[in-house]
Amino acid sequence: MIKINSMPVGMLRTNCYILQDGGKCAIIDPGGDFALINQFISANSLDPVLVLATHGHFDHVFSAGEFLNAYGLKLHINSADIELLKEADQMSLDLTGSRMNGDIEAITFEDGQEFRVGDSKIQAMGFPGHTLGSTIFKSESGLFTGDTVFKGTVGRVDFGGSILDMRQSLDRFRKISGNHLLFPGHGDFTALDDEKRVNPYLSDAFIYGK
Ligand SMILES: [Fe+2]
Repeated sequence: MIKINSMPVGMLRTNCYILQDGGKCAIIDPGGDFALINQFISANSLDPVLVLATHGHFDHVFSAGEFLNAYGLKLHINSADIELLKEADQMSLDLTGSRMNGDIEAITFEDGQEFRVGDSKIQAMGFPGHTLGSTIFKSESGLFTGDTVFKGTVGRVDFGGSILDMRQSLDRFRKISGNHLLFPGHGDFTALDDEKRVNPYLSDAFIYGK
């Protein structure tokens, strides 16, 4: 059984998730505060085996380089966001005045790819829109939606994304069955059924552009 821990990190309070199964863990979106995240890992005697990014914006990968160096890992990112990832350091400098910490060596994945942490599976599902390679990670404990879907709203599309892709992705997203817990890239957790009911961006009016 996978256990989920989260902490808001960095200037934009990105939710970094640590998924643990047995003594192994996966880190989703190490967006800053390496020392804080690493303290949790050490305190719980976890062995990081996987670092994943929901997309290539700097606030989701800000401290990835430090994790990769510390644990001899590579960052897994959707192939459609690899160019955006190359611009992340400059984007960070432009928007926050800070450069990211450490170089990022990345390996790309494709839609549908499965990862393992301990005995648990994590599946990558491409939902382009916020960025071209935005990905939702599915685990038995919930969906990690990155900046695609937040509680009550969705991610912006004007930093390397596409409104047309976003509408199609949200249409697919609202057809997912089961009341999964949703763990967004920023803000509060929520549940799929609640979002289907109240999130205006999952309505026909938004999706069909009426
Ligand atoms: Fe983002």
